[in-house]
Amino acid sequence: MTALPFNYKEPILTLSNISMSFHGETILRDINAQILDVTRPNMSQGQVVGFYGRSGIGKSVLCRIMAGLIRPSGGTVEVGQAQQAVEPGMVGFVQQRYPLFDHRTLLDNLLVAAQRKHAPEAARQHVDMYLERFGLAPHARKYPALLSGGQRQRAAIAQQLLCSDHLILLDEPFSGLDVAMIDELKRIIVEVTTMDELNTVVIVSHDLVTTTALADRLWLLGRERDASGQFLPGATISPRHQYNLAQLGLAWHPDVEAEPEFAQFVAEIKEEIRGS
Ligand SMILES: Nc1ncnc2c1ncn2[C@@H]1O[C@H](COP(=O)(O)OP(=O)(O)OP(=O)(O)O)[C@@H](O)[C@H]1O
Ligand SMILES: [Mg+2]
Repeated sequence: MTALPFNYKEPILTLSNISMSFHGETILRDINAQILDVTRPNMSQGQVVGFYGRSGIGKSVLCRIMAGLIRPSGGTVEVGQAQQAVEPGMVGFVQQRYPLFDHRTLLDNLLVAAQRKHAPEAARQHVDMYLERFGLAPHARKYPALLSGGQRQRAAIAQQLLCSDHLILLDEPFSGLDVAMIDELKRIIVEVTTMDELNTVVIVSHDLVTTTALADRLWLLGRERDASGQFLPGATISPRHQYNLAQLGLAWHPDVEAEPEFAQFVAEIKEEIRGS
């Protein structure tokens, strides 16, 4: 497929020399990666990064570091056009488990989030829009404990979309959703990332087809081997595991999933993940 025209501007997220150890065990090592503001002619195009790696390799730990919720053992995270050191609240983060205030109804949970960014009337409009889009309108007055797993997850995603600035991390957003809801969430991610060119979504997922089809960049967190073939301690995102789908001609094509080059590429990524 032909690469569509694009350019890059300033960085949105910069990870410099990130390392993380817990009780002397190295989980992450020397991570250097960057998300740049991508631009496409005559449209506002945000960024979508697919973030892959074996279970237990450290993806959720790196998300917590990127969201400023835990400090890395070494290295820095800088976010936004001003490239400020990350602080909690700057980056929206939908965790693998979806924390909601259990003493507030779904509607109130979302209003609290929306009012961090919008005046009350606009907040209500945004909340109603997301309730509708996510199939949650009939459940607005329920308390989170009464929602199904998928409903809770959609609520948590809506909550972060409502209150965060431009950068959102979604940890396993597609797991537990039915096919129709996966399609809806895909549409929402496309909508969010074409609303404002600074909007950026990082998607941690084991669903390589769905996520790669949405992404313009991929990160693969994996273990590297030394000269003798032994695994080095800790996982990293090596330069060869940072894929630029825009350059490869695999980004932004509708129905890219049906293309043979896409299937071939996903097969290669699977092989890389298996070997890491
Ligand atoms: N606070 C902590 N203290 C000690 N070890 C931790 C802590 N948090 C995470 N770990 C360890 O770090 C490793 C990476 O965990 P993480 O949750 O990031 O994996 P993951 O890549 O997100 O996996 P999955 O795909 O299954 O969600 C695991 O071995 C986990 O036990
Ligand atoms: Mg995880």
